[in-house]
Amino acid sequence: MIKHIAILVSGNGSNMRAIINATKRGILKKIAKVILVISSNPTAYAIKYAECENISTICVRNSELKNENFLNCMILRELQNIKVDIICLAGYTRIISRNLIDTYHNRILNIHPSLLPKFGGKGMYGIRVHKAVIESRETKSGATVHFVDEGYDTGSIIMQQEVKVLKTDTPNDLANRVLNVEHEIYPKAIKKIIENLK
Ligand code: GAR
Repeated sequence: MIKHIAILVSGNGSNMRAIINATKRGILKKIAKVILVISSNPTAYAIKYAECENISTICVRNSELKNENFLNCMILRELQNIKVDIICLAGYTRIISRNLIDTYHNRILNIHPSLLPKFGGKGMYGIRVHKAVIESRETKSGATVHFVDEGYDTGSIIMQQEVKVLKTDTPNDLANRVLNVEHEIYPKAIKKIIENLK
């Protein structure tokens, strides 16, 4: 049976678009469907994109963002109103509560733009990760899809792919190269998890 995905975003939502595309015409076709996108950012382009794809969307209000507990309860309530099999965090910057993690045990996935456990942890997100990689003179970086647990980027790893770090790379150059890899591995990792759910 086709599995239902909910995606949580805060930013551009390019990973969200990669997942939606994969369900429409890629490796997740006839396997999974994105049924809900929740954004913690009212101006997120992701919401407009999801609406154009006829996917239900929820934009979290500013007042709901002030309290993590309240926010997580609201998300849990929305998810439980529909049948969701997998939750994908795609550039989502808010905390996921214990309650949500327990309810969807090993069914909440996140993508991180480094080869975890390297360059993960509190405060390590987006371009900060790539700056740290370059400052540490790493010769390789990459992307990781992992399960979400109560720590920061500590859940078990589902899939990783490396990219080379070039001597001439700026953090933006590296971010773009890693992002292309993210778009490839996120749908693959979702497929792997769905196959295990059967
Ligand atoms: C992605 O690079 C994702 O790996 C990163 O935020 C970006 C979101 O881009 N996530 C983290 O750093 C989480 N720690 P997107 O909105 O275009 O998918």
